[in-house]
Amino acid sequence: MGDFHLARLARLAHFAGLWRCLLMVFVGFVGFTSLDVALAMDTPLLLDKGWRFHQGDLPLSPAVGHEQTYLQMKAGYAGGPAGIDFDDSNWRTLDLPHDWAVEGPFDPSANMDQGYRPRGLAWYRRYLRVDAAQRGRHIELQFDGIASQAEIWFNGHLLHRSFSGYTANHLDLTPYLRFGDEINTIAVRVNAEAMEGWWYEGAGIYRHVWLSQTDALHLHTDGLHLTPMPTPTPLKNAPAKDRWRLPMAVSLANDGPAPASATLEVTLLDPTGRQVEQRRAELHVAAQSSLETALPIDVTAPQRWSVDHPQLYQVHLRLLRQGQVLEHRSWHTGFRTLKFDAQQGFFLNGLPLKIKGVCIHQDHAGVGVAVPQSIWAYRLKRLKAMGANAVRFAHNAPPPEALDLADQLGLMVMDENRHFGADPETLQQLRWLVRRDRHHPSVILWSLFNEEPLQGGETGYEIARRMTAAVKALDTTRPVTAAMNGGFFSDLNASHALDVIGLNYQHTDYDRLHAERPQTPLISTEDASAFMTRGVYAPSHDPDRIPADDEHAADWGLNHRASWTMLAERPFMAGGFAWTGFDYRGEPTPQSWPAVSSMFGIMDLAGFAKSAFYIRQAQWREDRPVLHIEPHWSWPGQAGQMIPVMVMSNAQRVVLRLNGQPIGTQHLDRPGVARFDVPYAPGLLEAVGYDHEHEVSRDAVETTGPGVSLALQADRPALAGDGQDAVPVTLWVRDAQGRAVPDAQTRVHIEVRGAGRSLGHGNGDPLSHEDEKGAHRSLFHGLAQVIVQSHFTTTPGEIEIEAQAEGLAPAVLKLPVKASRLGTDPAALLDHALPAAFAPEQDPPATRLTEWRTSPLTSRPPGPPQPLADQDMNTWGWGAPPMTRAASAQATWQQYRTRFTPRNDVADGRGVLAFAAIQGRAEVWLDGQWLGRKTDPAPQALTLPLPAGAVLRELRVVIQSDAGMAGGIIGAVQLLKAPTGPSVPP
Ligand code: GAL
Repeated sequence: MGDFHLARLARLAHFAGLWRCLLMVFVGFVGFTSLDVALAMDTPLLLDKGWRFHQGDLPLSPAVGHEQTYLQMKAGYAGGPAGIDFDDSNWRTLDLPHDWAVEGPFDPSANMDQGYRPRGLAWYRRYLRVDAAQRGRHIELQFDGIASQAEIWFNGHLLHRSFSGYTANHLDLTPYLRFGDEINTIAVRVNAEAMEGWWYEGAGIYRHVWLSQTDALHLHTDGLHLTPMPTPTPLKNAPAKDRWRLPMAVSLANDGPAPASATLEVTLLDPTGRQVEQRRAELHVAAQSSLETALPIDVTAPQRWSVDHPQLYQVHLRLLRQGQVLEHRSWHTGFRTLKFDAQQGFFLNGLPLKIKGVCIHQDHAGVGVAVPQSIWAYRLKRLKAMGANAVRFAHNAPPPEALDLADQLGLMVMDENRHFGADPETLQQLRWLVRRDRHHPSVILWSLFNEEPLQGGETGYEIARRMTAAVKALDTTRPVTAAMNGGFFSDLNASHALDVIGLNYQHTDYDRLHAERPQTPLISTEDASAFMTRGVYAPSHDPDRIPADDEHAADWGLNHRASWTMLAERPFMAGGFAWTGFDYRGEPTPQSWPAVSSMFGIMDLAGFAKSAFYIRQAQWREDRPVLHIEPHWSWPGQAGQMIPVMVMSNAQRVVLRLNGQPIGTQHLDRPGVARFDVPYAPGLLEAVGYDHEHEVSRDAVETTGPGVSLALQADRPALAGDGQDAVPVTLWVRDAQGRAVPDAQTRVHIEVRGAGRSLGHGNGDPLSHEDEKGAHRSLFHGLAQVIVQSHFTTTPGEIEIEAQAEGLAPAVLKLPVKASRLGTDPAALLDHALPAAFAPEQDPPATRLTEWRTSPLTSRPPGPPQPLADQDMNTWGWGAPPMTRAASAQATWQQYRTRFTPRNDVADGRGVLAFAAIQGRAEVWLDGQWLGRKTDPAPQALTLPLPAGAVLRELRVVIQSDAGMAGGIIGAVQLLKAPTGPSVPP
């Protein structure tokens, strides 16, 4: 169990309850022996598997005639791919998270900032079976994020329009559910033409989808406010200080038709799992109403969360009724104090701490924005290893699992809202962000916006003031900031509505603003914007890429050394967020096509270090010696050429030697870069760092021979067999002595077999147009990365990755995959193991004919059945099976009519029309043609061949029953695939 698993547990804890707690709760307290039962009762289920996908738009409503148009305007009758019976049998099936933009080719005519990736529109559909035992419970469908705009239908009902790809959508399915064999249909139309940013945003359902299933009396999603607050209120028997209160403000709803009661229980556990406090209260909630209540928990002298010791407490909420757990939710949180001081900068837990942050977007090599949690763990750990203590998720809400990881790793977070506005939709997005994220100890700042042109005037102020108020109504424990790139010197501007002024690239104004606003804390929300390409150095003469020498920055920015120095030298600056931690697709400033990704990253798109990584490490890591030489020392044919050498170090003095001969010594007055010009000779270039007279650090680069073999190395030695765990695998070339050949650009064939799959690959080259999902990948300056993900497995397995290239010995890496314990392993709560009550439906369900018109009873047979006027909505009734009416002595005949367009799989003449039961004597007519009959009046099934034709069909059933007897369609009517048999021509 590595950190990754802690991260996974925390994520699952967030949604599903901690494993330890499940055991305690269900086995210990309630005495359940079957965890499966307990998990199935209240656990949110991951609904990522078994989606169908169609790239491109499809018309919603092909209706022409009156009746069809009329119906499609009705609740539950959406047409086309939004509807229930749409034929999606030839759509691609896939698992979420999914980003279709990263699968596509690059196109020079596509939007540059979106990485020259065409985006467009697409549809997703999924079927869902819901057990009848769920009737009366509250069922909610939750999308963590869909890029960019979306419309979501459930069983033909338009439930929601989503206006932002960064905001979750929580949809109550309860009123629309179908149970048992009647399958539910989810349909999502995604519009990724709509852009929200000037960076690569991906396309599709790129974050997880969950199904929450609770009692009708349930906690609102994000409905517990538990953020610990330092409190001045004296507590009984408490020492005079370090008192805290968790408000435990709970927001519940009872959707049911009757009043409901339950016991509410909140529990706080310390980082060792010891119970700190538990409180209970009885609740009574009227039918169809909500309740706000609170069970505050007071804590004295808790263990603190900090960047070095991120201590996390667990919070559990349970709803109980007669010993049964109705709902169980878990969160983690942490206790820490924050202070932004206008003179002295930032304090965490009362201690000064310079914020060493980076801005990041959310895409990664090979996967686009569909980044698995374990790859987030890899990315954030890379930042931590560099010495960063903070992250700004620019310029939008991050995926929830990234915040869980930040909590665990000890990374502080500037949590940013995407849109700037005081309109209801924007304010609701902001409120959602605060509600979702306020329990995270990592979050230290709420950010309202990034560089809004209105920021400098009255409108900017008026909007910002309303947004700040919306935040403060939900959380008063963090200051509100915004990333401003000007306008803060005017008489009235957005900064007047902020607690902390955030500055993007305003280094020339730090001192003036501090002088003019001496009471207001300042932070650099964005700085640097330095450019470099990994592995590119002056001697390689690559005009399309930018040398990694920290000499290149945007006109509005500074290089890494200078931008940090500006902050390090100013105690009043709380710190800053460098642009950016990683390269991201799009915004290929200062280049354009064929460059397709940015070059601002301290690391490349795969998380491989550029020299900036070591510059930042030298600047930021005070806890250990840092020393790193760049470039590599393999420059064939360049003997005698001057090679500029950089030694990144936090030592006081750096000494450089080539093949044992001294080259020079440099004193560093602050951590940074020592530079030497070295005439090239093959061999060993060595640097040694000294503090006073003591050697503290050492690094060397060596000339390598020609490549002889490929090599593969995984970031972690094994994967969990939960079908989610993913690991980056580095691919490189070795020389005869096993050393990495630094400039290899080899094209490699990659194959992934066994208990996992490749999710994609990349090499960090901002000009690469290679297919990120294909079987080949070229190394870029010696490196490439393949991301492999486990399959779900309940037995131990192995992923085998094989790399082959011409002229090199192949490499094979075998990665063990651990078994998942179905039903007892939190990871197995995922939809590989959906409880039977929510079994996923992979195949489109059979079409059920549920929309019928019913004629009045008549004394004479109507046959051949007369048409019903298309405009007549009223002389005939409406119904769905079971439908019966009793015949009178005068009127024994009745007629039923429906229309349908058969799906392809039953329209080829091999389909059948299956009536589960008809009561009375019946004749069946299709498109005015006689199809078959049933002569026995007793209830019986009737199955008739369905003639070929994928057009709109009209079906009529004429039923005659004896006076006083009931007649009608009393069971389901379905279009089924005939198992065998001849096709029936049209
Ligand atoms: C900033 C902006 C970022 C990015 C950056 C590039 O102005 O906030 O999103 O565009 O410039 O330097």
